Amino acid sequence: MATCVLIDMGKVIAVANQKGGTGKTSCAVHLLHWCSQQGSTLLIDSDSQESSTRWLQGRDYNCQIERNPEDLFELAIEAAENYQYVIIDCPASLGEVTKAAIYCSELVLVPVQPGVLDVDSALSTFRHIKHAQKIRKDGTPQGLAFINRAIYGTRALNEAREYLQQHPHITLAKTVIYQRQLIQDAPASRSTAFTLPGATAKEVAKFYQSLFEEALPNNA
Ligand SMILES: Nc1ncnc2c1ncn2[C@@H]1O[C@H](COP(=O)(O)OP(=O)(O)O)[C@@H](O)[C@H]1O
Ligand SMILES: [Mg+2]
Repeated sequence: MATCVLIDMGKVIAVANQKGGTGKTSCAVHLLHWCSQQGSTLLIDSDSQESSTRWLQGRDYNCQIERNPEDLFELAIEAAENYQYVIIDCPASLGEVTKAAIYCSELVLVPVQPGVLDVDSALSTFRHIKHAQKIRKDGTPQGLAFINRAIYGTRALNEAREYLQQHPHITLAKTVIYQRQLIQDAPASRSTAFTLPGATAKEVAKFYQSLFEEALPNNA
């Protein structure tokens, strides 16, 4: 597979984890809003469930569906010539689509829920990031795992943190996204925490902002 040249090009960012329900779409849609504040941004929905497309229906964001792995690869690379940020919301599998997304990305965000089974299932995603790093030889794609749906002070959170910190091909984000009902309610209002009113929305917006500033330190 061709190596992607990213000099003077936009950043391709995949949000991936083979497990469903870990928070990929929630992260991708919040990232779309955050990146759109910084520059032109396209979200590519590569999941057959089309959750992010439905979430963004009627909203003024750039969003495109692409589920063919070869077309996805080419679309993301070409889009990086025209957009400052290209975000790929991956499906819940490690099939060709997710692999194509990982191979054409500069950064892969991996949401992981606390719990042994969830952490274990994220390992295959890390493995693919490692393979892509070996082929690309320039340290990319950078893998940034983050803990999502955490409950403060729980043993599961501490154990997930300890375990993920030791992984050699992944950086664990300092930012933790805690479990908040507002995140679950956001798609119904076709909004994100960045635009919803109230104290919880502010708190959740801070979680995501802090995560994105860690992920894209030069763009904060
Ligand atoms: N931090 C969180 N707190 C509460 N609910 C969350 C959180 N992150 C995700 N969810 C909810 O969990 C479900 C799965 O999240 P989603 O982003 O669709 O995951 P994926 O795209 O990985 O399948 C959704 O109902 C979503 O609203
Ligand atoms: Mg999803």
